[in-house]
Amino acid sequence: MLPNFNVILIGAGEVNFGSVEGPWNHVRKLKDRLQIIALVDPDVDRAKFALESKSKGDQAASYVNALIAIKSMPCRFEGKDLNILPNSLVILGSPPQFRGSHIPGKDLELQIMEAFPGCPVFVEKPVTASLPEECWRVSKQMNQSNVLIGVGYVLRYLRAVQKIKEIIRENNLVVMGTNARYVMAYEYARKLSWWNKSLSGGPIIEQATHFCDLSRYFGGEVILDSVTAHTVEHDDSPGLLSAKRFDEDLIPPESRIPRLTSASWKYISGAVGSLMHVIALHDTTYDTEFEVYADGFRLKLVDPYGSPTLYLRRPGIKEEETYKFEEDDPFFSEISTFVDAIEARAPKHNILSSYEDALRTYEFTWQIREASDTCIRKPGNGI
Ligand SMILES: NC(=O)c1ccc[n+]([C@@H]2O[C@H](COP(=O)([O-])OP(=O)(O)OC[C@H]3O[C@@H](n4cnc5c(N)ncnc54)[C@H](O)[C@@H]3O)[C@@H](O)[C@H]2O)c1
Repeated sequence: MLPNFNVILIGAGEVNFGSVEGPWNHVRKLKDRLQIIALVDPDVDRAKFALESKSKGDQAASYVNALIAIKSMPCRFEGKDLNILPNSLVILGSPPQFRGSHIPGKDLELQIMEAFPGCPVFVEKPVTASLPEECWRVSKQMNQSNVLIGVGYVLRYLRAVQKIKEIIRENNLVVMGTNARYVMAYEYARKLSWWNKSLSGGPIIEQATHFCDLSRYFGGEVILDSVTAHTVEHDDSPGLLSAKRFDEDLIPPESRIPRLTSASWKYISGAVGSLMHVIALHDTTYDTEFEVYADGFRLKLVDPYGSPTLYLRRPGIKEEETYKFEEDDPFFSEISTFVDAIEARAPKHNILSSYEDALRTYEFTWQIREASDTCIRKPGNGI
């Protein structure tokens, strides 16, 4: 039997404890091995409530010894020192505006390295909400400290995504283009900060980042200067949304997010990529597709967040082939890969998203954001 595995959670929010939008709390996948030894969150009431929500059920024992940090960092756990043991992991699930830079208050990685020296860190996406230059400084410092760090670009761990990689490899394909389509169901997205691009970075940086990351995963590096974008804004008449369950008037107009972003770019390889992100659907079911094209092939991944299915056209076969990947849980694969690397059961290169790689995705999404901030707004009115 494997020994306990200790986890320090930074952030008592949805990604670490789950929500109606998704049961994201990945650490539950560690099952009986899981020991949450600490929870760090400046919102102590929320932290207490989050732990309380785990006090019943089959994993209650995993949370019962958790200490709550009474302030963010440096960690003070009600007067007790935290003893970091081997087999430990910090999961950084605060909002991105508190991490990825050297700026005090936005420097959680650096604070973690100081408070828990040598402890591996799993960072949620996007790596930050600060300017990309800032994160490169953080990345350098982490490399120098030799800390194992991975980022939550969970779609890379989908079996369907790995199948696309396999088909490309086996057939020596050169990717000609990628096409990502992400139509969000917004009715239950009620977090005001999410709808405020000054805080969240906007829907490409915060949400479509997963598809931008997949684009890079298949298309390679993007020529950042080639990125163009057009948007439907909140005050364009097609951008009126009728099922919002929050008061958008609380957000300054200039910080409200676009309802539709359409972007395209050139990869260094010569291939071309495009992305359409739309905030349009009601209820909770998203509509998402990601396509890769190469000579003779069209590989279409449908519903990566729900029931991932790969539709394949290949030379010599008239019918479309369909691969269904039932019971695939990329969150499980992601966290177990990370834990296996920490415990030396698997090589570190099995971690599919490194900090540097995730930073390039962040730079790319910033570029789309900047291109969409400066695109033509209204015909005849200029920007
Ligand atoms: N990979 C995925 O599919 C996925 C899914 C959901 C969320 N996320 C990411 O997870 C991150 C958190 O999202 P969420 O929905 O849990 O947010 P949330 O707003 O529900 O919770 C964030 C928590 O962090 C706390 N916090 C703020 N500053 C802090 C600090 N300095 N130290 C410690 N805690 C601090 C807040 O008080 C809050 O309790 C975001 O980056 C989001 O994009 C990823």
